[in-house]
Amino acid sequence: MVHYNWFGGRSTISVVIEMGWEVKNKNRPEDKTNAEEYFEKYGEDYAKSNAIRNIQHKITLRAIELAQWPKGARILDLGCGSGFSMEVLDSKGYKSVGIDISDKMLQFAKESGFDVRKADARELPFEDESFDGILSISMLQWLGKKDVEKVALECYRVLKQGGTGIIQFYPRSEDEMIRVGRAFVKAGFTGEFAIDNPKNARKRKIYLIVRKATKKESEGDKS
Ligand SMILES: C[S@@+](CC[C@H](N)C(=O)[O-])C[C@H]1O[C@@H](n2cnc3c(N)ncnc32)[C@H](O)[C@@H]1O
Repeated sequence: MVHYNWFGGRSTISVVIEMGWEVKNKNRPEDKTNAEEYFEKYGEDYAKSNAIRNIQHKITLRAIELAQWPKGARILDLGCGSGFSMEVLDSKGYKSVGIDISDKMLQFAKESGFDVRKADARELPFEDESFDGILSISMLQWLGKKDVEKVALECYRVLKQGGTGIIQFYPRSEDEMIRVGRAFVKAGFTGEFAIDNPKNARKRKIYLIVRKATKKESEGDKS
């Protein structure tokens, strides 16, 4: 695992992953269609796949380890899909609320009894500072540059001061990864990336860890 501080610059990432890396697979569904259409068609296969469930559980457990949310924290699951991450959040004693843009995926999450609603991550239907933490697993690669900026601003708005967000996603390149990090820093967060299996493109998992300063910390910044 590589863990490095993110201050909006290139930092040490280039040392551990080839500088300027790009994924070889140019055939990703998110490059060919939008999430609503894709999951309308393949949502059932996704929701019923034990292999996918196992992978998403593992990623979620890792995200929880990185986040260190206190027990009982209220966590927003952005792009909750059929609820795989929420299964883990609930088993760990968190209060989870999920949103997703796909009716098909939400249908499965609702059948499992999760507290979910249809919403777009770019425009969240929640009050300011209403969550202790934010989790997003395998969603952000569905969004373009401007959309990611909107998501970052919305995450900042709905997260409580002192709260932590974990955004796991599959960037197409080093540039995209860094651009996403910058969007969250621009929205007000401090952040860092944790990268598991950095040298193995197939197994590599990228987690953006973002934190919203407490009031005291923000005041300290100004003095
Ligand atoms: C690969 S699935 C991951 C689902 C879930 N996080 C999991 O780990 O199983 C990506 C999900 O992101 C959702 N999604 C994509 N764009 C979205 C957006 N703008 N707002 C909300 N959800 C979105 C899709 O509908 C889909 O359910």
